[in-house]
Amino acid sequence: MNFKILTLFPELFPGPLNHSIIGAALRKKIFSVDPVNIRDFATNKAKSVDSSPYGGGAGMILKPDVLQKAYDFCLKRFDKKPKTIYLSPSGCKLNHDKLLEINKYENVVIICGKYEGIDSRFITHNKIEEVSLGDYVLSGGEIASFILIDACVRLIPEVLGNKNSLVSESFQNHLLEYPQFTKPRVWQNLEVPEILLNGNHEKVSEWKLKTSIEVTKRKRPDLFKIYKKKLKERK
Ligand code: ADE
Repeated sequence: MNFKILTLFPELFPGPLNHSIIGAALRKKIFSVDPVNIRDFATNKAKSVDSSPYGGGAGMILKPDVLQKAYDFCLKRFDKKPKTIYLSPSGCKLNHDKLLEINKYENVVIICGKYEGIDSRFITHNKIEEVSLGDYVLSGGEIASFILIDACVRLIPEVLGNKNSLVSESFQNHLLEYPQFTKPRVWQNLEVPEILLNGNHEKVSEWKLKTSIEVTKRKRPDLFKIYKKKLKERK
């Protein structure tokens, strides 16, 4: 997967994406991250990229003409049509299904807003999808882009060494993951469930599924509803 990031802070990349499992995938060229500096596409001498909002209000708005030049530059560099995402608190909330959808694309453009936002005609004109990380406001899209890329890249089959790692983790099949335990067997008077110690793989698998269902029902009733609906559809 190739990510092009439209940003005013290209020096932030690859940042945390250069570490751990995702960093190894970056070095193996399983994915690439290429920041594009929006300021390079400013048209005036002062290299300004923003202006005050029509109708008044706080802060500055990124100009559509500058963004369009930066975006066209990105589009020209891809042979296949990319998926384009504007990270914004006004978008649809990111979830596992959305990640799977993004994951199907070879090329992805991520637009990081700054200041009070961007001129919405740029979004309308290019029919860009808005994606939010949650109901709170970050000071820019860059940190959100790290999260989106990390979550997306770990779904590429070669990225996690153990192919089974993805199978049982949270949100696969719309369930949260069952609780995990390691040594010591007893800690602070809390015991590891007996069934995990006896080596009966069939019973362990049953316990994992049953516990996943219980945990999801208790902690995330909204997700549990989706699980039940999908189960019914499959039957
Ligand atoms: N940029 C600012 N706030 C954001 C959020 N909640 N999600 C994604 N991008 C953002």
